[in-house]
Amino acid sequence: MDTSRIFEFPVKEFFKQPRSLLGAGAYENAGPEAAEMGLRHVLFVTSGLRGTGIIDECKTNFENAGVSVSIYDKVETNPKDYNVMDSYKAFAEAGCDGFVSIGGGSSHDTTKGARVVAAHDGRNVNEFQGLNASETLENPAHIAINTTVGTGSETTPAYVITDTTSDKAPHKWVAFDRASTTTLAINDPVLCMTQPPEYVAYTGFDTLAHGSEAYVGRVQHLSCTPQALSAVRMVQEHLREATYNPNNFKAMEGMVWAQYIAAQAFSSALLGILHSLSHAVCAYYDIHHGLNNGIGISRVWTYNQPAAPERFADIAVAMGEDTRGLTPIQASDKAIDAVIRLAKDCGIPENWSQVPEYPKTRMGQGYYEGKTSGPIQSDDAELQAMAEHMMEDLCTPGNPRDLTLDGAKEVLRDCMYDPMVRKTDNGYRQNIWGVAPEMGRQTEQASAQRPGPE
Ligand SMILES: [Fe+2]
Repeated sequence: MDTSRIFEFPVKEFFKQPRSLLGAGAYENAGPEAAEMGLRHVLFVTSGLRGTGIIDECKTNFENAGVSVSIYDKVETNPKDYNVMDSYKAFAEAGCDGFVSIGGGSSHDTTKGARVVAAHDGRNVNEFQGLNASETLENPAHIAINTTVGTGSETTPAYVITDTTSDKAPHKWVAFDRASTTTLAINDPVLCMTQPPEYVAYTGFDTLAHGSEAYVGRVQHLSCTPQALSAVRMVQEHLREATYNPNNFKAMEGMVWAQYIAAQAFSSALLGILHSLSHAVCAYYDIHHGLNNGIGISRVWTYNQPAAPERFADIAVAMGEDTRGLTPIQASDKAIDAVIRLAKDCGIPENWSQVPEYPKTRMGQGYYEGKTSGPIQSDDAELQAMAEHMMEDLCTPGNPRDLTLDGAKEVLRDCMYDPMVRKTDNGYRQNIWGVAPEMGRQTEQASAQRPGPE
């Protein structure tokens, strides 16, 4: 029986979570834990975390436990296929027997890819995108020491890599692979207190994206939805304080829990088109994933609101809104108002064309030939390419509302040029059939493609 004609996710998979340590001082256990696993020589995979002293401290910690350390410190934001292959080469050439990723999602994802490559005799990482693509589950050990409040990658089976070399490039692809779950996840709020304020805000919006997409999505994995909503509530409670006072331990600890819980939720409840949107833009512009989510979240919630008003009404309550006496539709409006207020309070730009240059990124520069630096201002052809990228993303089927190509383009266009406000009567909100008459810019083309009245 083809149950896919009746149910969108007829069989739901629960991805196991790794053992983890969470709390102040947790990272000091990493070296002794590696020794206990029998590791003798590990590769640190990191962006370098320069100026924090974290890498040197961790190296000493491992060496004191009798574990030798080599370092690959060239991980880039939105990790590329060459970051993965280079870290695998460093692992093989140094004769390492385990990986330790230190940093945020980019370092953890690079390491997950490198482990898969190591388990498949050095094959190209781009062969392993999609769902459970590994042919063997025997990956080298991986300790993930997390230093940001958004990724969740230290605990998930997911990783995201940008393909810069195949015929599909530029292509930022997603893997959900049970072979990729880490061996030990370490979350230490003290390490997260080294983040610059804007990174707390950006990564915090990644956490909010994870929690909200897991909660409203089509999978509806019932062992995950309560955690997803809890994570939304915790972001609402802690993100402003953690952004503006990163040294407030309670606020940072709250965000660490939020990012950890949200990631456990989306590990099995999956994600939606906010992540598809973010991946598509990152394929063309090297912009921070969490910043993308901060710009896109109110637009995607608006797009999805008609398909899941009760779920968004729950989110409004989790975000502290008083919804007594309101219908689900009215209450769901309050969720969108609340997320716009949070984004503005945390300094998220109005749209992509207003994103300023910021450290540790090559925003707008592109990593492949032909791109030059500058603001993100795509023409129609590039919007079309990004929309097609969104349609193909592994996260798109889990979205509560079907995505049309024209709908994707309108959401992208809004994120790029329009102010961040809740829209009630135009654009993609009514673009159910792929036609956006109010926008005008593609009416002619869309009308030409529609069947006539007969
Ligand atoms: Fe994310």
